[in-house]
Amino acid sequence: MDSELSLWFCSMCSAFCFMFFSFTLMFSLFSLLILVLRLKLWCNCEICQAFLTSSWTKEFDNLSDWYTHLLKNSSTGTIHIHVLGNIITANPENVEHILKTRFENYPKGKPFSALLGDLLGRGIFNVDGDSWKFQRKMASLELGSISIRAHAFDIVKSEIQSRLIPLLSSVSGKEQVLDLQDVFRRFSFDNICKFSFGLDPGCLNLSLPISEFAEAFDLASKLSAQRAVASSPLIWKVKRLLNLGTEKQLKEAIKMVDEFAQEMINQRREKGFPDSNDLLSRFMGTINDDKYLRDIVISFLLAGRDTVASGLTSFFWLLSQHPEVESAIRDELERVMGTSSDQQFASFNQMQQMHYLHAALYESLRLFPPVQFDSKFAQEDDILPDGTFVRKGTRVTYHQYAMGRMDWVWGSDCLEYKPERWLKNGRYIPENPYKFPVFQAGQRVCLGKEMALVDMKCVVLAIIRRYNIRVADPNQAPRFAPGLTATVRGGLPILVQKRGA
Ligand code: HEM
Repeated sequence: MDSELSLWFCSMCSAFCFMFFSFTLMFSLFSLLILVLRLKLWCNCEICQAFLTSSWTKEFDNLSDWYTHLLKNSSTGTIHIHVLGNIITANPENVEHILKTRFENYPKGKPFSALLGDLLGRGIFNVDGDSWKFQRKMASLELGSISIRAHAFDIVKSEIQSRLIPLLSSVSGKEQVLDLQDVFRRFSFDNICKFSFGLDPGCLNLSLPISEFAEAFDLASKLSAQRAVASSPLIWKVKRLLNLGTEKQLKEAIKMVDEFAQEMINQRREKGFPDSNDLLSRFMGTINDDKYLRDIVISFLLAGRDTVASGLTSFFWLLSQHPEVESAIRDELERVMGTSSDQQFASFNQMQQMHYLHAALYESLRLFPPVQFDSKFAQEDDILPDGTFVRKGTRVTYHQYAMGRMDWVWGSDCLEYKPERWLKNGRYIPENPYKFPVFQAGQRVCLGKEMALVDMKCVVLAIIRRYNIRVADPNQAPRFAPGLTATVRGGLPILVQKRGA
């Protein structure tokens, strides 16, 4: 009987394996067919051919640089990659149309929310309509409140004082190379976790420990973003169904993120939360659904983590190329704060007087936006202000990285790093937000903009006041890896020297 059972079991297994492999084979052939159809029948235009054959890689390091080149040569500042069903624009009038004038016609859309849905669920980053409106209203109230802003400021100051400065001091004057991008990623992860959950993962402790949660979160964001580069969404959807390869890894990573978030929620419930300032506790006052709470805070983690780290990394690379900008920031710092080292941090008020620092940061974000492009999906047929016809269902992307490099938008010196561009008689003058949509613009403008700027200013001031940072290979311009947020391949290796030492 036993042997009969094992025989039966074996034949079932073989049948299953056969079905499984046949299905995988059929699926691969089907994907290939889609590609071939696209290649041969869909579009033979030069741009689509360059995309499909990857011939653009001969001339350009990454897709954003190639798109910038194409957009520069387009008479309207808009291009259409037919095989991707993607219209890409660098035209500020189009951006205003998409983000403000016809906002309702350009939601994030289902294709986007499907990519990030497993990780972000119903979080603000991933929804449209009423669910978005509800979270937006609540989050704006929270982030706009003076107490929560002061709380965020305290978190940043403490992370700088107790971790960032000790770490930089520990390598100062030694020939020890530190990856500044990694430091900033750890720094922002600690900050955003403390802000969102009231939890300190301690990623920037002196030993630079490995945090399982940070690793799972990184992997989950990376693999969710990778879904977007599959030649058809069918590919990752079937892999998910069969729990194969990267989809299996993604599922495991998300499971860890979920367990961690649930643990945080449970702890908050046990301890009680009415007096806590973290975002989770604030939302717990109104929402009972644990899954919804998890989704809300995970969106904040994603929004606030790599963006700040990316902005700071590019900024310090630019400073290494422009010592005159660093000197001008130091001059302003001394003018506003004085030369005594008694005061550890600039106050809100003092930061508001530092117009040059603000301009230097904005100029860096213009050239190296942490979010390089952002897409929406047209609900209905439309015509953009530059005359481009948009068919219903088309993905429409505004390209922040390319926009900063358009001479017809920023002038013939657009590739130069010039903080003065933002100043008039020494005062910062804001630009049209649709010409500089680095924090998006319109109804869905970034909710963490002010907080991010305060964080970045605090870090910049704390570092350049105390240290000289030398980039190990200053001739190597940042080369970005594909992902949700701009990350420099290979990081930013630096050497640290205490000032005056
Ligand atoms: C330099 C830093 C930052 C940059 C460049 C930035 C940029 C952006 C951009 C481009 C978007 C639109 C994304 C999209 O709709 O697909 C966005 C949305 C958002 N950001 Fe930021 N962000 C930064 C920091 C932060 C921080 C620190 C937080 C949180 C504390 C935050 C919270 C949000 C939220 C909640 C949204 C969604 C808004 C909505 O959909 O209504 N951001 N941000």
